[in-house]
Amino acid sequence: MDDTPRHRPRELDAILADAERAGFAMSCEDRTGSLLATLAATKPGGRFLELGTGSGAGAAWLAIGMSSSARLTTVETDIDVQAIARRHLDHDRRIEFVTADADDFLSTYEGEPFDFAYVDCRPGKYHRLLDLLRLLQPGALYVVDDMLPQATWPEDHQPRVNGFLAQLPERPNLRATPMRWSSGLVVGARI
Ligand SMILES: C[S@@+](CC[C@H](N)C(=O)[O-])C[C@H]1O[C@@H](n2cnc3c(N)ncnc32)[C@H](O)[C@@H]1O
Repeated sequence: MDDTPRHRPRELDAILADAERAGFAMSCEDRTGSLLATLAATKPGGRFLELGTGSGAGAAWLAIGMSSSARLTTVETDIDVQAIARRHLDHDRRIEFVTADADDFLSTYEGEPFDFAYVDCRPGKYHRLLDLLRLLQPGALYVVDDMLPQATWPEDHQPRVNGFLAQLPERPNLRATPMRWSSGLVVGARI
């Protein structure tokens, strides 16, 4: 079984090349991206949230799954790395780029609840999971990656991941499935 994605966002190679030039090595894997696109396609007209834009690889994958009336808000604290994403994806009027700390975003967001959250930084995953889940509609999807050891992890990171995975079954409003696939995923549904 060859699970290499056949359909990739047209901006992806240029995004990854710019990310490499900028020394940014945390873009999502293609298989993760492909799953994001597939899951995004289950929410026509949906409101999408990404915490941690990086250089825009995840956003590009989400965008190829999103319908024309869907909207993505993607939040990043590093203006320089997010500039790569803006450069390649700004033409897509469905995407709103927010330059902010995800902690602040979680504290101040007052808009409509989301149908999908791809959480790719610490807030909303390793801390403030409950605040993130409060922003999701029942039935919304919650996706995180990098649950398996990554070269970019700091030395003290494994216990953080272990703690996150261990408490998932105790969350009464999330039905989550850990997946030992791609970089290690959790796919959950807000209940
Ligand atoms: C794993 S990378 C994101 C990769 C991107 N989501 C993708 O799929 O290609 C994590 C990003 O989160 C950003 N980040 C870290 N802490 C953050 C915070 N508190 N608020 C917003 N962004 C943060 C980092 O600067 C980094 O660009």
